[in-house]
Amino acid sequence: MQIPAPYDVLIIGSGASGLGLALRLGESCRVAVIAKRDLQEGNTYYAQGGISAVLDVRDSIQSHVEDTLEAGAGLCDPEIVRMVVTEGKENVNWLLEQGVEFTRDADSPAGNGYHLTREGGHTHRRVVHSGDATGRAVETRLVDKIQGRPNVELFDNHIAIDLITGSKLGHADNRCYGAYVLNRIKDRVETFRARSVVLATGGASKVYLFTTNPDVSTGDGIAMAWRAGCRVANMEFIQFHPTCLYHPRAKSFLISEAVRGEGGRLLLPDGTRFMPAFDKRAELAPRDIVARAIDHEMKRLGADCVFLDISHKPADFIKTHFPTIHARCLEFGIDITKEPIPVVPAAHYTCGGVITDRNAQTDIPGLYVVGETAYTGLHGANRMASNSLLECMVFGRLASEAISNKLADAPAVPEVVPWDESRVTDSDEEVVVSHNWDELRRFMWDYVGIVRSNKRLQRAKRRVDMLRREIIDYYSNFRVSNDLLELRNLVEVADLIIRSAKRRRESRGLHYTLDFPKRDDTGQRKPTVLIPDNYEP
Ligand code: FAD
Ligand code: SIN
Repeated sequence: MQIPAPYDVLIIGSGASGLGLALRLGESCRVAVIAKRDLQEGNTYYAQGGISAVLDVRDSIQSHVEDTLEAGAGLCDPEIVRMVVTEGKENVNWLLEQGVEFTRDADSPAGNGYHLTREGGHTHRRVVHSGDATGRAVETRLVDKIQGRPNVELFDNHIAIDLITGSKLGHADNRCYGAYVLNRIKDRVETFRARSVVLATGGASKVYLFTTNPDVSTGDGIAMAWRAGCRVANMEFIQFHPTCLYHPRAKSFLISEAVRGEGGRLLLPDGTRFMPAFDKRAELAPRDIVARAIDHEMKRLGADCVFLDISHKPADFIKTHFPTIHARCLEFGIDITKEPIPVVPAAHYTCGGVITDRNAQTDIPGLYVVGETAYTGLHGANRMASNSLLECMVFGRLASEAISNKLADAPAVPEVVPWDESRVTDSDEEVVVSHNWDELRRFMWDYVGIVRSNKRLQRAKRRVDMLRREIIDYYSNFRVSNDLLELRNLVEVADLIIRSAKRRRESRGLHYTLDFPKRDDTGQRKPTVLIPDNYEP
C-alpha cells in the first residue's frame, strides 16, 4: 500500500484536548485527527460536573490558585497553576463562541449570568456547566465544528500502535515523524506521517477493574510516548472518584460531585452521615479524602457500598439540576428525588502522564502531548474537580500556537518503511488476551488501589512483570488486534504506576500507603519522574 503524503499535524485523539487544538490551528495547516472508536467516544463525552473558571465577581484568581494548590497536596507547579487558572474565563468564552451552551441563571448576575456549581476543594462556586452533561455538550459541539473544517481529515476507528521516531529510522536525532495505525475497519496497518505529532489520547483508568471511564481509556498515549523515549511523572497519583453508581447493571456511571456541591450527603447503610468525622469540609473535602473515607467505612462495616442522598432537596430542583443522573438512576429503579443512591469509589483520572513544558512539548522534538495524557504540573498529587477540561482547553491552545510557530522550520519528513507483518501469524489463542486483561485489572484494583502497602505493591510488581513478558512475547509473534494493542499499553502503564508508587515512601494526596502513613515534606516533596532506557536528554 502506498504511504500518503505527510500531514502538517497528526493529532491522535478527538476529545476536548485534541479537537480544541485542531480547531485553533489555521486553515492553511493540513491536519489529520484519528480516534480509536467513534469521534465522540472518550472521557470528554462523559464529563458531568463542568469546567472551572473564575466568573463570579466575588471569586478571584488567587482563590482558585490556592484551592488547586491545596488539593494538589504540595506537588503542583505553582507557575503552571496560575497560568492555567488565569486563562479560565477566556477558554469558557472560546467554548461559547464555538456554540457550547452552558446552563444560565438570570438570578445570578455575579456569575456573569451563568449558573456556577460547586465541587470538592473549591471554596467558591466556580464551575460552569451544561446541566449534568457538560462533556456531551462540549464534545458534540467540537465534533460538529471540526467536521466543517476543510483542512482537517478525520479518521475514526483507527488505533495508533506506535510512534515513528528518528531513532527507529536509524537517524542521529530522535524527532517524531508520525505513527503506525491499525485501521480497525479494513484490519490493516497504515502509516501516517506528519511534521508535528500530538498525543491527545486521554487517561488510563481502564487499568483498574472498576472505573468511571469508557473503554477507550487504556493509557495508549502514555505507553507510546514512554516506548519512544519520553519521561513520565507522577503515575502513582490515580484519582478514585468517590461516587460511582453501585448497581450490577450500571457499567461505570458517575454520580457527579456537583450532587454533593448542591447539598448531597454521604450516608452509611444505617443512614448515619459520616464525612464530618473525617474532614471539616465534610462531603466537599477533596476527592482523595472522601474516597478514602468511603473505602475505610466500607471495609470497617463489610458493606458493599455507601449512599449519597439528595432527596431532602425539592424534586423540581433535583430534576432541573441533574436530569441525566435522575433519568439514568430511574432506569435502575432508583428515584433520587425520594431515596439515596448506592455509590462506590472507582478509578477516574490519571493525574500523572508524559512530561511536557508550557507549550505541551515533550522530550522528543516534534512530539506534543495534551489533555489527560500529559503531566503539566497542574494537578500535583490530586486533581481538583473540573480543572481537567480547563487544562485540556488551555494546553490545546498553547500547543496550537507552538506548533504553528515552528511549522515553517520543521525538517522535511523522511520516507519510512511500511509496517512489516512478514514474521507474524494470526493468533491461535485469543483467550490469552482476555484472560490477561481481566487478571491485570483485578490485581491493580486489589493491590494498587485506594490503600496500598509495600507488600501489596511487591505482589503487583511480580505479577505485572510476568504478564509483561507474556504479552510482549505474544505481540512479537501474532498479528496485531485492537484488544492486543490495548492490553500491551495497559500492562506498560500498570508497570509505570506500580514503579512510581513503590518510589513514593510517604502518603500524599491520592497515594496512601499503610507502611508510610504520613506526609514527608522533608525529602519527598517532588514529582516522581521515571526515565526510559532510550531517553535522550
Ligand atoms: P479523551 O476525551 O478521553 O479523548 C481521548 C481520545 O483519544 C479519544 O478520541 C480516543 O478514541 C483517542 N485515543 C485513545 N487512544 C488512542 C489510540 N491508540 N489511537 C487513536 N486514538 C486514540 N473533568 C472536568 O474537568 N470536569 C468534569 O465535569 C469531568 N467529569 C468527568 C466525568 C467522567 C465520567 C469522566 C470519565 C471524566 C470526567 N472528567 C471531568 C475528566 C475529563 O473528562 C477528562 O480528563 C478529559 O475529558 C480528557 O480529555 P482528553 O482530550 O485528554 O481525552
Ligand atoms: C464530577 O462531575 O464529579 C466529575 C468532575 C471531575 O472529574 O472533574
